[in-house]
Amino acid sequence: MEVIIQPNVEQAAELTARLIAARLRAKPDLVLGLATGRTMERVYDRLADTQRSEGLDFSRCRTFNLDEYIAIPPEDEHSYRYYMNHHLFSRVNIDLANTHVPDGMAADLRAEAAHYEQLISEAGGIDLQLLGIGEAGHIGFNEPLSAIRSRTREKALTPVTRQQNASMFGGDPDNVPKRALTMGVGTILDSRELVLLATGAAKASILAKAVEGPITAMISASAIQLHPSCKVIIDSEAARELKERDYYDWIFQNEPEWQEFRASMIASLASPNPARVTIAKQHSPQQNRNL
Ligand code: F6R
Repeated sequence: MEVIIQPNVEQAAELTARLIAARLRAKPDLVLGLATGRTMERVYDRLADTQRSEGLDFSRCRTFNLDEYIAIPPEDEHSYRYYMNHHLFSRVNIDLANTHVPDGMAADLRAEAAHYEQLISEAGGIDLQLLGIGEAGHIGFNEPLSAIRSRTREKALTPVTRQQNASMFGGDPDNVPKRALTMGVGTILDSRELVLLATGAAKASILAKAVEGPITAMISASAIQLHPSCKVIIDSEAARELKERDYYDWIFQNEPEWQEFRASMIASLASPNPARVTIAKQHSPQQNRNL
């Protein structure tokens, strides 16, 4: 695992988007695992910018989302299908037929979960899986005590998660669905590469536990320590409780695999894109705190 600390939320999202763009350029039919949530909105903004400014090509890219709420129809603005269409798919040249989100409306959720696993396997497995981390320590919706070998399945959400996501449901945690269909921890670990993005002080404590603490099913994100190719990209706020910051900084500044990204991050700072400033201002102070 490598932990890469960026000075602020914009640069952490920028680096994540650049890494995804580089993988997509290297493999145009990339199988990309996607996440939703507030943290990812900036990443999708950056990818849409890159499509516009550099012609980044999504036409052969195939995507699989981590999770979906149960009993929220895809056309409902609270569904993760709606989120993906809104934040990314409608803004880039992706073929919607190549995009997959678990069907939380399926009459037989077990069959849908098995079908989702089958689709991932038929696509040849996930090349790069993008992850966020929840305040309950989840990746996807793998809440505490999710088995490290778990596969796609139905999962009950914890009160912490429902509280975390309440702002998307009018501020009331009781409005947040109680259940979701989620890739399992084992499904996620089967991906060839993992990139976890976390920003903001609210994530500092759980992130330190996931990255530097013991591997435990109580914090499903700690399972990423088992993955041979995992990058954790964070801003300085989310890095607050990490013990080995100097070492992590040294990695980004010195390791050859980060060379192209070091150079491009410096270039992007030298010529800020006005669109980015506008997008950053669209978030309320509360949202910015959460990002
Ligand atoms: C969403 C998902 C979750 C989120 C996590 C962080 O598809 O899988 O694990 O990534 O809850 O959410 P935000 O970014 O809203 O803090």
